Amino acid sequence: MGITRRTTLAGAAATGVGVPLLAACGKGGSNASAGPTAAAGEKLGPASDVPVGGGTIYADQRIVVTQPSQGTFEGFSAVCTHQGCLVSTVSDGTINCTCHGSKFSIQDGSVEHGPATSPLSRVEVKDDGGQITTA
Ligand code: FES
Repeated sequence: MGITRRTTLAGAAATGVGVPLLAACGKGGSNASAGPTAAAGEKLGPASDVPVGGGTIYADQRIVVTQPSQGTFEGFSAVCTHQGCLVSTVSDGTINCTCHGSKFSIQDGSVEHGPATSPLSRVEVKDDGGQITTA
């Protein structure tokens, strides 16, 4: 009687989880942590350069302009909300950042695919006589 058995399992080693090194963002000089640079009224380029269902990236001004439907132009910051790379392509209905794979809607800049969690900020643009201009 009175057998006391102590179970003394060795505690699982819980401290051995390694933390992989994070890949550096923005290699190649594409990091652009600042926002759009265009002042109101600045001409970005011909409206005909912005394909229907697609968009054009104006890297110098850090603005992406899309045309979700014929004659409707939307402007957004081209600075990815994840870690500040410039978005690099517009295809298949999304604005794409190739740094880590985030995708944003060409309609409203909302996140379609992470790791970004915040939408691209809007930049007001208009078609001014065939020229896309910041408003
Ligand atoms: S900066 Fe990471 S996905 Fe754009």
